[in-house]
Amino acid sequence: TRRITANDIRARKGGEPIVALTSYHAHTARIIDPFVDFLLVGDSLGMVMHGLETTLPVTLEMMILQGRAVMRGASHCLVVVDLPFGSYEESPVKAFQTAARVLKETGCGAVKLEGGARMAETVRFLVDRGVPVMGHVGLTPQAVNTIGGFKVQGRDPGGAESILADAKAIEEAGAFAVVVEAVVEPLARQITEAIAVPTVGIGASPACDGQILVLEDMLGLSPWAPKFVKRFGNLAEQIEGSVKAYVSEVRDRTFPADDNVYKPKK
Ligand code: KIV
Ligand code: NA
Repeated sequence: TRRITANDIRARKGGEPIVALTSYHAHTARIIDPFVDFLLVGDSLGMVMHGLETTLPVTLEMMILQGRAVMRGASHCLVVVDLPFGSYEESPVKAFQTAARVLKETGCGAVKLEGGARMAETVRFLVDRGVPVMGHVGLTPQAVNTIGGFKVQGRDPGGAESILADAKAIEEAGAFAVVVEAVVEPLARQITEAIAVPTVGIGASPACDGQILVLEDMLGLSPWAPKFVKRFGNLAEQIEGSVKAYVSEVRDRTFPADDNVYKPKK
């Protein structure tokens, strides 16, 4: 069976919900790949893997390295790789150079970039040159310093208007889907009804055409997660339990046991 493409995702508008997760890492990609529609190598890896407070310090090299790891683990899903802060905003040409490196060096099927109307020209430039682009509007974490924090977007009518205009601009520019992050429910519904490509929500209500979460947040590994995350697992507790068992078995010399020891040939 062939790998899911950006066009397949676009064709899911209004149908069965699209399901996506982030992935930064080969073994987790392999586990998730059969069940979801796309994997996002998100720049949230800066926070999750590196303990950074924002995504701003994430480099293109970090994204390419983890993008390659995920591609090795995933054979069914579309893999989308985030363009990191500073690698694409200044011009369409710069964005194309960055996106081309990502596609060539990872083998992924699409890139994602943040921003609405101001990025429309860039989205069109990339799509016209063979780069499928996923948009990202609402809370755009790379703009945390101008937004003034990680806050719900679109609560005021002016803000909602401009986010709706952003989503439309990105769609008109040729994006195959748009991530909508941390917006109030009526706005998520309005955007989803207004554009012809799927909306993939994160903290954006069930009105979207699909959902995405950060894997480590939904697994209960992250020490903290926003209100919109449901914890479907408790990995932090499971890791703690396993580590405590290992520590106590080493200390009381029950590990390594006979099964775990190499014996000379008889
Ligand atoms: O980097 C990321 O994980 C993302 C998703 C939250 C959409 O951009
Ligand atoms: Na991101």
